[in-house]
Amino acid sequence: MSNEHVCEIALLKKEHAESMAFIHAACFPYDIWSKETFESFCDELWGNVIGWMAVYENREVGFILARQVIDTAEILSFAALPDFQGKGIGRQLLNQLMDTIEVPLFLEVSVDNKSAIYLYESAGFKIMTTRKNYYNMPGHMGSKDAYLMRCG
Ligand SMILES: CC(C)(COP(=O)(O)OP(=O)(O)OC[C@H]1O[C@@H](n2cnc3c(N)ncnc32)[C@H](O)[C@@H]1OP(=O)(O)O)[C@@H](O)C(=O)NCCC(=O)NCCS
Repeated sequence: MSNEHVCEIALLKKEHAESMAFIHAACFPYDIWSKETFESFCDELWGNVIGWMAVYENREVGFILARQVIDTAEILSFAALPDFQGKGIGRQLLNQLMDTIEVPLFLEVSVDNKSAIYLYESAGFKIMTTRKNYYNMPGHMGSKDAYLMRCG
């Protein structure tokens, strides 16, 4: 995929749960979310939960999933397949979400995830605080701090 190619951005459906689990596992091998977990989020789609799938040549390559609770929303999961990262898919998905959500949007991101933090800051997110030991890593890898970020 070259940088000139733009993905189709499709509304998330329950049928996307398997692809979401696959993409999530490719990005977060230490924090696997099952197909059933994504299906349960999809049961709330277009109620509290919203999201989009990026599709490139019929292949599901990235997604964003968010939940709105009353007057705030949070990004639950956001990932693109490693081979498709850095080609504009994440920004397309984030823009779609931000164009839709009308309430303040929050997310957590690992403090060492420089590319994601760059993307969020360039989209208008600000770091609110640091959540110590937010991510528990497997084995002896310890834990990682996360930034809580907010936009709007
Ligand atoms: C975070 C993620 C979803 C972003 O999606 P993406 O398709 O790679 O992002 P984009 O290609 O749209 O890039 C967004 C911006 O980040 C920049 N960027 C990408 N990789 C970068 C890097 N290594 N260093 C600095 N900036 C980087 C791009 O240049 C782009 O900025 P630009 O539009 O001004 O050129 C994706 O990288 C990913 O799945 N990462 C692993 C999972 C993850 O960390 N999810 C987020 C958890 S909070």
